[in-house]
Amino acid sequence: MTEHPWWRQAVVYQVYPRSFADSDGDGVGDLTGVRQHLGHIRDLGVDAVWLSPVYRSPMADAGYDISDYQDIDPTFGSLEDMDALLAEAHRLGLRVLMDFVPNHTSDQHAWFRESRSSRDNPKRDWYIWRDEPNNWRAALNAGSAWTWDEQTEQYYLHLFLPQQPDLNWRNPDVVEAMHDVLRFWLDRGVDGFRIDVAHCVGKDPEFADDQRCAAGEPLSDFNDQPYSHEVLRGIRKLVDSYPGDRVLVGEVNIRSTRRVAKYYGANDELHMSFNFPPLDAPWDPVVFRMCVREVEKELGTVAAWPTWVLSNHDNERHRTRYGGSMRRTRAAAVMLLTLRGTPFLYQGEELGLANAVITPESQVDPGGRDGARAPLPWLAAPPHGWDGKTPWLPFPPDAETLSAQRANDEPGSILQLYRRLISERRRSEALRVGDWTELPSPPEVLAYRRRAGDDTRIVAINFADHPQQFEVDGRWQVTIASEPDGEGEPFTGRLGAEQAVLLEPSR
Ligand code: NOJ
Repeated sequence: MTEHPWWRQAVVYQVYPRSFADSDGDGVGDLTGVRQHLGHIRDLGVDAVWLSPVYRSPMADAGYDISDYQDIDPTFGSLEDMDALLAEAHRLGLRVLMDFVPNHTSDQHAWFRESRSSRDNPKRDWYIWRDEPNNWRAALNAGSAWTWDEQTEQYYLHLFLPQQPDLNWRNPDVVEAMHDVLRFWLDRGVDGFRIDVAHCVGKDPEFADDQRCAAGEPLSDFNDQPYSHEVLRGIRKLVDSYPGDRVLVGEVNIRSTRRVAKYYGANDELHMSFNFPPLDAPWDPVVFRMCVREVEKELGTVAAWPTWVLSNHDNERHRTRYGGSMRRTRAAAVMLLTLRGTPFLYQGEELGLANAVITPESQVDPGGRDGARAPLPWLAAPPHGWDGKTPWLPFPPDAETLSAQRANDEPGSILQLYRRLISERRRSEALRVGDWTELPSPPEVLAYRRRAGDDTRIVAINFADHPQQFEVDGRWQVTIASEPDGEGEPFTGRLGAEQAVLLEPSR
């Protein structure tokens, strides 16, 4: 392994296949659609793609309820389509991460059908059955985390929907079967996995009631048990036995950076973990300053490599969170792509998309997350490249002006800004792997220096809706500005309203 493996230097792009691109006109995106649009991802300059689940699924939770881990759902295509996508991505120099969902299967998975068929079925213990429920609550507005099974007269555990029974990872046969799943995809050439709710697999063996559940919080928001670490160590060992720096990035959906840091283990668990406080953060300098300082303190001191995420398929898009402002969204792009750690982009943020407006009639997701899952507008003219049936969700607002087609042709578009920032990262070791130091600045400005050897960059983000003065020693010039005034010129210290700048030493 080199000093900095590829994934530390990478930018990762999340594809949500249902809404990326539709090749067969059924109104739902598919793998061939992804393959046909890989050029867009390659042109953005990213290094890897993470695909949200495409396995066989009854789609109670949009594919996070898997009924066969070793097959592709017909909605998305076939195993051959997946192989073709992998081959094409690799040909273009893009790595591919799949979503691995270890915590639960679908209730339609053969394992669960067997498990629920009788109390003495050999697979009974593959899931978690109890005579009495405790007070644990499920996520996705699903109420109790326990569902009564009429036939065998016990409750089974599900931290998400009743259609997503939790696997029992304390059973060695489950571990073995799930390791086989990982091998199946690693053997096919997948470059790693994003691990769904990695912190949920280990459960309290006492099944003790929890006060936070009594207060209405789902257990998956804070479950944090030692056994999850053991499971992750087993998975890491397996993945490390493959050549090619395969990577594990875990969804540790606990809003505490200190606790997230534990999931890197002693470099024997996750390679990277998501850290979600910035994903909830409004456009606020105090909140962001805290988030960034926390990451530097909690992860920096244990040499755990950070990740940065502003949007994903589970949360309101950040443009919407920032009050719909394109100016803020552009400034946020400068921040996201210059902090220390691996940025994860969510499809469509490079177009500046906001959440789609969902009505009770168009709602699909029981968890209310449809707004961020709207189809990508490829072409300016309706139906925006989605010929055939009406897409499964409405388009986001301003689909025509924000379409990839328009953004491609428009010099100052947010898409061009993302491309330039990513290409600057590639050029600059400081931005990719350099250290991070906060610089003194007015309270509404977040400013930092990145440095590796002789390469030094400075970034300043003005969160205020009016100009600010930011003084910095030495002579600097503006490489990239979110609002493009001043680019290529000496930096005067003036930051426009909600403007972010990337500076390099004047030559
Ligand atoms: C996290 C996934 O990102 C989300 O979409 C899903 O509903 C839950 N885990 C359950 O798998």
